[in-house]
Amino acid sequence: MSTRPALTLDSHRFLRGGHEHRVVSAAVHYFRIHPELWRDRLQRLRAMGCNTVELYIAWNFHQPTPGPARFDGWHDVAAFIREADSLGLDVIARPGPYICAEWDLGGLPAWLLADESLRLRTADPTYLAAVDQWFDQLIPVLAELQTSRGGPIVAVQVENEYGSYGNDKAYLEHLKDGLVARGIDCLLFTSDGPEPRMLAGGTLPGVLATANFGSRPGEAFTTLATFQPDAPLVCMEFWNGWFDHYGGPHHVRDTTDAAEALDGILAAGGSVNIYMGHGGTNFGWWAGANHTGKTLADPGYLSTITSYDYDAPIGEAGELTEKFHAFREVIGRHVPLPDTELPAQPRRVDPRTVPATRVASLRGSLDLLSAALRRPAPEPIEKLGHHCGLVHYRNHITGPGGPATLTVDGIRDLAQIFLDGHLVGVLERDDPSPTIELSVPEGGAELEILVEPFGRVNYGPHLADRKGLVAGVRLDHQHLFDWDIRVLPLDDLTALPTTAAAETDDGPAFHRAVVDLPEAADAFLSVPGSHRTLVWLNGFLLGRLRTEKGPQRTLYAPAPVWRAGANEILVLDLAAAATPLTVELRAEPDLGPIAAAPQY
Ligand code: GLA
Repeated sequence: MSTRPALTLDSHRFLRGGHEHRVVSAAVHYFRIHPELWRDRLQRLRAMGCNTVELYIAWNFHQPTPGPARFDGWHDVAAFIREADSLGLDVIARPGPYICAEWDLGGLPAWLLADESLRLRTADPTYLAAVDQWFDQLIPVLAELQTSRGGPIVAVQVENEYGSYGNDKAYLEHLKDGLVARGIDCLLFTSDGPEPRMLAGGTLPGVLATANFGSRPGEAFTTLATFQPDAPLVCMEFWNGWFDHYGGPHHVRDTTDAAEALDGILAAGGSVNIYMGHGGTNFGWWAGANHTGKTLADPGYLSTITSYDYDAPIGEAGELTEKFHAFREVIGRHVPLPDTELPAQPRRVDPRTVPATRVASLRGSLDLLSAALRRPAPEPIEKLGHHCGLVHYRNHITGPGGPATLTVDGIRDLAQIFLDGHLVGVLERDDPSPTIELSVPEGGAELEILVEPFGRVNYGPHLADRKGLVAGVRLDHQHLFDWDIRVLPLDDLTALPTTAAAETDDGPAFHRAVVDLPEAADAFLSVPGSHRTLVWLNGFLLGRLRTEKGPQRTLYAPAPVWRAGANEILVLDLAAAATPLTVELRAEPDLGPIAAAPQY
């Protein structure tokens, strides 16, 4: 078995095979990049001057439901790491199991939330048993790819910013021991915010402490060096951009300011991981959320958008931005740049507008899309064996007729309420009063509540963010029991009709457009006039738009999802706002009005 020089510590320096070494890394998430573009994005990162790539591993991406984890195709993290290796990049792996990352539930699988007594990110035996079976599957894959076995992995992180969350050292020790017991023999490290309490909570003796920050490198490194005097200085997440929430601005970080901060880190002798080098996309249902409330029930829920462009130096569609060139120049002052040509911009579509045909109403297609479960009370999707999807709740209200107040508690995150097929109200999670005044017909009525969950909270004290209806529904003071519930992951829409719908119900509806392309190319899709949509290209869920809230008005549709010839675009128009509906294929993204990224 061949080995390679390990990354080791010598007081304040890193060594590689006896020589002083500086880690110049950037973060890239394989789960946010179409696998046919992995190599392209890694090449760009190498061209920027990075000698290392850092990746999180998202547990829920591999094991969304209990059962064997997937490592095939898009889930083949070993293939991604080998691709990096083939380009001469070292690899830093951050297997969590919690990763934060603006990813649904911070990478933890939603099935952990089926058990309300389980305590996430602690030494709770039920949680540890779940982590251990995952590590049994994942860690041997990573161990095989370490430098000690001839691979590119030079370092592995324990948990993620644990000091921002808790203080359970037995949990951190369990993770560290679990990595070592499963064959990890490379450098271990933790990462935390550069504050004494965070460092105290998140670090372990004998494990390198690193710090995460985006500005004022001098101050951050002083705090880190005070906490850990005899070690190299590492900024494990240099935040050079930021993420966006629906209803907020698109955050950007000034290039000169970001380049100066990067230079400050490197000039101080530090090593760096640029977060993000290339952000990518929260395809499907995978975007996370934040929560600023004192409790999860308080207002303060902020859902993260589909784009994870992050204003990174390599844009969402692989663009080499102004920041790329500025960073390359700064990096070149501190480590040798590779002698390679800069990659060209990937091809983009010729813009066009395509009409779509309304092919089916959502509520009229329920039987085609999912089976109903009967439950006494509304349940969140985690207790129904699912991890994502819309949720449809149906109840028969008996008479007597007359006015009544409907109260829907615990909406996660937006609910449309239909009485006998007519939309009677829309309620959102943070509405101060989740009630609707109804007029119940004599003889009763069919009540339907269609819930649209957004991302699960991925950061902060309130992680157990179950989706669907998490409390109860009442008519005046009477609880409504005996529900038919359907979770609609919408992962297979092939049963939907392809021609114009005969029915005319006014709720959410699927619209279908067909577009012929001479060859596959990158595109940015928008749905003018719509409010909330989910958009599929050739069966692949590109993500969701909240065009009326923004900031993002286009979805990135990468070339590998297109094909030469006919392509099918399906739009689920949830607010039934855009009639007739058209889809625009654009050559440029529209991520919305910009504002300066917060500086930490
Ligand atoms: C923290 C986390 C990352 C990410 C950034 C913000 O540093 O460790 O996963 O969430 O914040 O983008």
